[in-house]
This record gives sequence, structure tokens and C-alpha cells, in this order.
Amino acid sequence: MKKGLIKIVAAAMAGLFLLCGCELRPKGTDGPYEFPLTIKADFNEKDKFWQTNGSCKVKLENGKAVITNRKESNAGIAVPCAEYRGNTVNATAMVSSENDSVRLTLTYDIYGNVSYVTVASGDTTADAESQISGNIEIPANAQNAKIYIEASDVRDITVSSFEVSIVGDFNDLTGTPVEELADPTKTASLSAAYADYFKFGVASPASVMTNKNDKFRKLLKTQFNSVTPENELKPENVLDASKCLADPAKYNESPAIHFDAAKPILDYCKKNNIPMRGHTLVWYSQTPSWFFYENYDVNGNLASRELMLKRMENYIDSVMNWCEKNYPGVIYAWDVVNEAAADDGGMRDCYWKQVVGDDYVERAFEFARKHGPSGVQLFYNDYNEYQTSKMGDILTMLRPVAAAGNIDGMGMQSHISSGLDPNNYVNAAKTYADELGVVIHITELDVTAPKSLNPMYDQGVYMKKLFSAIVEAKKAGVPIECVTIWGLTDDMSWKSSTKPLLFYGNLSPKPAYEGVMCALTGGEVAKPADYQEPSSDLTPYYEDFEDKKFHGGPRYSAVLKVVEGGYEGNYCLENSEGYAEYDGYSIDVTQFAGHTIHVSFVIKSKADVCKCTADIDGSWPNIVEVQTGSGEWVTGEGDYKIEEGTTSLSIYFESSDMSPFYIDNIKIEAVD
Ligand code: XIL
Repeated sequence: MKKGLIKIVAAAMAGLFLLCGCELRPKGTDGPYEFPLTIKADFNEKDKFWQTNGSCKVKLENGKAVITNRKESNAGIAVPCAEYRGNTVNATAMVSSENDSVRLTLTYDIYGNVSYVTVASGDTTADAESQISGNIEIPANAQNAKIYIEASDVRDITVSSFEVSIVGDFNDLTGTPVEELADPTKTASLSAAYADYFKFGVASPASVMTNKNDKFRKLLKTQFNSVTPENELKPENVLDASKCLADPAKYNESPAIHFDAAKPILDYCKKNNIPMRGHTLVWYSQTPSWFFYENYDVNGNLASRELMLKRMENYIDSVMNWCEKNYPGVIYAWDVVNEAAADDGGMRDCYWKQVVGDDYVERAFEFARKHGPSGVQLFYNDYNEYQTSKMGDILTMLRPVAAAGNIDGMGMQSHISSGLDPNNYVNAAKTYADELGVVIHITELDVTAPKSLNPMYDQGVYMKKLFSAIVEAKKAGVPIECVTIWGLTDDMSWKSSTKPLLFYGNLSPKPAYEGVMCALTGGEVAKPADYQEPSSDLTPYYEDFEDKKFHGGPRYSAVLKVVEGGYEGNYCLENSEGYAEYDGYSIDVTQFAGHTIHVSFVIKSKADVCKCTADIDGSWPNIVEVQTGSGEWVTGEGDYKIEEGTTSLSIYFESSDMSPFYIDNIKIEAVD
């Protein structure tokens, strides 16, 4: 919508609000009755543009909100922003906390199902404020959207500001009805098509089972023959906080557990004979911090290794056996340990490692083998598992577990993008199987749609390649026994903005679904009616920011601004406020596929080094590195060969230590 139109709508809305006696939300950028393009929590008054989320107390002090008595990780403060559905929003909070990190999460109802999408997370300390900020798209059919502040640890969080604002032009969907759902029984079954190869599974929230609308259940039942509860069997939902905290002496060694969250999905799978993957027993995340403390008291000391091992053993024993006793044969595999490898090498630093020690993974599998019902397969599960260096760390960690005979399977989460080479991916599966003597489950597959001219079509073409490689690997003897898609529809995905799944929000199949089917039939994914021919135009890419615009985009949480002080002209691009060095400025170079590109630019930063890198999932080949540090403009140039047939490739610029950088005169041209 154009700005002028927004003003008219704004004025109309303002009138409407006044007529209904509703209070207007805080003003937007200018004028008191501007449509609310920003919703800013007012911590001078209770529930003014904010609300309490989960179980906690909120004290208002000097315009700040102090969240205390937090009983669970999602206990915090929410800014409701239902009227922003169908828009990309920015959420920014200033927080301080004794918790190591704080997260912003978007939640909404989508046709009666509840979804949670991570917006941003950042490190925090008690004595200084940290800004947590990120952009996220709220699906058009989302109802009751709100963004809340949370932390896995249950210590206090102080919030001095929290606001949600529209990014770009406002798309006003307030008052418009949600889209009709498609008939899910009309789509051919994936699990039937793949029956000769492996189980075809899906992750689902229990809300699908309790939903009044049975169309989601119909889709699940016709398409899939394995189910993973998306959150319901994680420690934060299974540990019984009220019992453990009320009587820590009684539950000191054997934590109280309950299955209130998981029962609807367990009941459903039992009744419908759908085997379930149990996810997950031992994990650093979605496990409350009090679990690791003496007397379950986060203000006291951490538990001793001995105590924690007892808790671990009793937890694993009681959870596995409660499920087996009450739902015999339903759970056929458990993710015993999830995500124990670090992203930057070795084992992840976490409570389990700190309290028990490096052998916590071995002990967990030992207990699961000792107590687990016979025939239930024991899995290790992780992400970025196909990347060579992380694979090395995972193998090192799991070799002793395999030698002890305590592991049956490797869970490859596979949160990937279409930049990942399917051959490298299936080679990783083969390596795990060969090295550890285990079977393979692909446990959480989702594929970020490329930022290309035809993202849905290109994603479909990629899915065909990926599943062709998986099927070939299976035929060649790689023991892939289950492939699970991490969610039913794009709108229900934990990464909904990236449109990573097989079905649209309205339950109709995407080209991605078609691609998966084409891997078996040999057919081609149909080009959509609005297909845009990719340009074979090799016009050099050039930008000097003199039009005050940038034509690439932010990578992850980088903040980009055209600012004065250009190299030659007036303007250049500033990149700042990322949370990692690789949060940078990204440019799509897909049009140069099949050619070598020459990249040149000028860059300025206080960081010692700035880099230009190609963004291939699983590896990040460096194009050029320049020594900055002097704070002066420095020239960089380098060549990079883009493979023929690449459907999506970006290059990005970054600084080595997250210092802001300024870039200008970027030129990219084909040189062969
Ligand atoms: C995600 C869920 O999909 C979200 O609903 C939740 O808010 C966070 O966790 N690796 C895992 C999964 O093993 O459990 C995570 O699931 C995604 C990453």
C-alpha cells in the first residue's frame, strides 16, 4: 500500500477507534492519529500495549518492566500485534538479565494450530542493557499474533523498551477474512509413494490433534507414516515444574514428570497406528535451568555430577518407560541426545557439560540402553551435521557410544537451504552409517526457499535433486530408514518466513511437494503461470548508493543503512548491529551461473579484516579478504567460478569482528 493510502486508512481507523471508544495505539512516525505503524509497550501502565506471557510476575518500576518468578522459559512479556498479519515486522527490545541469553519469539494461531517462530536472540548480562532485534514475516492468515520475550533460564529479565514496527509499506489485512483451506485428501500420498524406500514422517504440534478443524489431521494421516511431536516431549514440557519446585527434597534424584502436553498426540498416534519418533531426552535447549541446580533452586549451587547423573538416569528411565507402558509400541525411536556438538568445534558448552562433564553423551546413551524398552532405536540428533568439520566432531563424540553398542541411529536434522549440494549431503549420511555402524533418519528436513525470481519453483527443482540423491543413496545401500519433514505447512514452520516446507498454509501442495514426487516419477516440476524467465543478462552489477538505495539485502540480523560519507560520491552503505561476523551485506548473483565473476569494491572498517564470501550451504568459499583496520577506504577484488545450473547463489560482505563496515562502488561482472 502506498503511503498516501495508509494515511487515509489511518484517518479512517482513527475515527473508528474513537467511535468505538477504543484507545488508539501509540502514534506512528508522525502525527497523533497516524495508523499505528509501531506498537510500543508502555511500562508505566499495566497491560498498555503489552501483556504477561506464561507463568511469571511483572513489576513496573521507573518505566521499566521487571519479570520475576519466571516458572518456565516462555514466561515473559508479549506485545500483541495481530493487526500486522501479512507484514514483515521488526521487533526490538532493550533488556538486561542474569540469564545468558534472551530470545524474541513470534507466536500465532494458524487455523487453530499454534506456531512459534524465533525472531532473534542475543547474549545478555545483568549490569548492561542488550538490544535484541530482528525482522520476521507474519503469515497473512495468522490470528492473534504476538511477539514475546523469553529465556531458557528462569532468572529475572528487565525490559526497558519493547516495540514492534512495520518494515516497508503497510499491507493492511485488518478485518479481511482468512483464506479457505484446500481439501487435503485430494493430494497423492508421499508415504505411499515412498513406501519401498523409507518412512515419510512429519513433525506436528499436539494442537493439530485437538483442533476443531480436522483438515490438518486429514493431511497428516494421508501423507505421512511417522510423527514427531514438535515440542511436547521436550524436557520443558515433560518435567513437572510445579511438583519439583514445590517439593525439591522428594524429587531431588528422580524428577517428577507429566505428559499433559504430549497425551493428545500420543493418543492420536496410538489410535491411528502411526509410529512416533520421541524427541528428545537430553538437550541443552528447551530444558529449564532449575533442573541443573541443587534443590532445583537457581539461586543456589549447581548440582554435583553424581546428583545430575542420577537425575539423568531416572528421567530417561521414567520417560521412556511411561511412554512404553501407556502407549505400547508407539514410540519406535528416541532422540536420546540432541545437539551436543558446538557450531565452532568440539562439544557445546552447556549445563549438561558443565555439571556432568564431557562424558554426558556417553552416559545418556548408556542409561537409555539400560532402561529403554527393547526394540526402541536410540538416536543422536544434530543440525549442520553434513558440514565436514561438525561431522568430524560428532563422529569423535559418538565413536565410544557406538563401541559400547549403545546407539542405533544418526539423526540428521537437515535444516538446509537449496545451496547445499545433494551429493555432499548424502555422502555425509553414508559416512555416519559406515563409521558408526548405525541407520540414518533424516529428522527435521526443511529447505529455505531461495531468494530467486521463482523461489517456489526453484525450491521444487531443488527438492527433486535432493530426493533423487537420497533415493539413489538408499538404493546403493545407505540405510536411510525415515525422512521427516519439520512441519505440515509453511505457515506452521518454526522458520515460516523462509517458506521451507512441502505444503502452503492453505494445505495445497507446493512445487516442493511436486519435486519430491518427481524424484520418483522422473517428471519435471511444472513452471507456474507467473514464471519469470531468469535473465541470461550478464550486464555487470554496479552500485554506488548515490540513489540512496541498496539493491542487495541483510544477511541474518545485519542492519543496513545508506549513509553519507561515500568513497567518491555522497553516499555509501553502512552495515552494523549484526550478532555474528557473518551478518553482512548479501547480493544475489544467480544470473551469472556458469560464469566466473570478478568482484570489486571499496570498504572501510575498524575491523582488522573484511571479507567477500560466496554463500553455499555447508561451505563458505572466500572470494577475497582485505586488510582494513586503518579505518581508511581499501580496495578489494577477487574472482569466483559459479557452477553451471546453480539456481540460487549469493555473495556477502562481512567484517571479521562485527565492527560496522562501510562499502561502496561494488561491481560484479562475468569475465569468461
Ligand atoms: C523447534 C520447534 O520447531 C519450535 O516450535 C520451538 O519453538 C523451538 O524448537 N532443532 C530441534 C528441534 O531439534 O526440536 C527444534 O524445534 C528445531 C531445531
